[in-house]
Amino acid sequence: MEPSPTDPIIAPSILAADFAHLADQVHAIEGAADWVHVDVMDNHFVPNLTIGLPVVQSLKKATSIPFDVHLMITDPERWAPGYAEAGAHNVTFHAEACDNPVALAKTLRAAGAKAGLAIDRDTPVEPYLELLPYVDTLLIMTIKAGFGGQKFLPEMLEKVRDVRRRIHAKDLQVRVEVDGGIAADTIEQAAEAGADAFVAGTAVYGADDPADAVRKLKAQVARVSARA
Ligand code: DX5
Ligand code: ZN
Repeated sequence: MEPSPTDPIIAPSILAADFAHLADQVHAIEGAADWVHVDVMDNHFVPNLTIGLPVVQSLKKATSIPFDVHLMITDPERWAPGYAEAGAHNVTFHAEACDNPVALAKTLRAAGAKAGLAIDRDTPVEPYLELLPYVDTLLIMTIKAGFGGQKFLPEMLEKVRDVRRRIHAKDLQVRVEVDGGIAADTIEQAAEAGADAFVAGTAVYGADDPADAVRKLKAQVARVSARA
């Protein structure tokens, strides 16, 4: 079930899962995870190459967890709508790869998905703050996009604070998602900065019990909210 718009979301990234058993790996987080985060990389926008639409379409049939598709690809105008049509809950494309983010966000919403805009490590967020009314999710990379297992960059949280301030000031309903190096030792600072959706690859799939790892991360975020 989709959480209420203000409940924090934990989105395990299958990039850190066993690709030979993807359906089993998604089943392992069912009942605990809110979204499953799918990293699509094209060996062009980023050097790495992962999976594409056929895998998403097949995996979609194996689970009812909402899909959070993170497109690290060039030409998202061409490819992103296919993921929305495949039933992805949220489709996020990169600001650096898109000439007209507002138009693409509209297309994604018209296809029935939430629209997400991602900001990579070396991209300032200020020029994109005015686009917030047109998107449902603003994803702040807390690493350089391309590979799992990298070290969390706390200086990226200044962007999270900026975005959260603007969302609050304009009374908008936009999720602020963080992606990269999110784990037990970093998730609380991200939550304090204003993130309300948390991607975690290694921290979930590197654990002996992925569902338990998700629950523990969620409890940490709840503790931050209780303190606020
Ligand atoms: C990297 C991906 C991330 C990755 C995060 O570019 O966007 O979603 O899976 O992995 P961890 O949590 O291991 O940093
Ligand atoms: Zn990602």
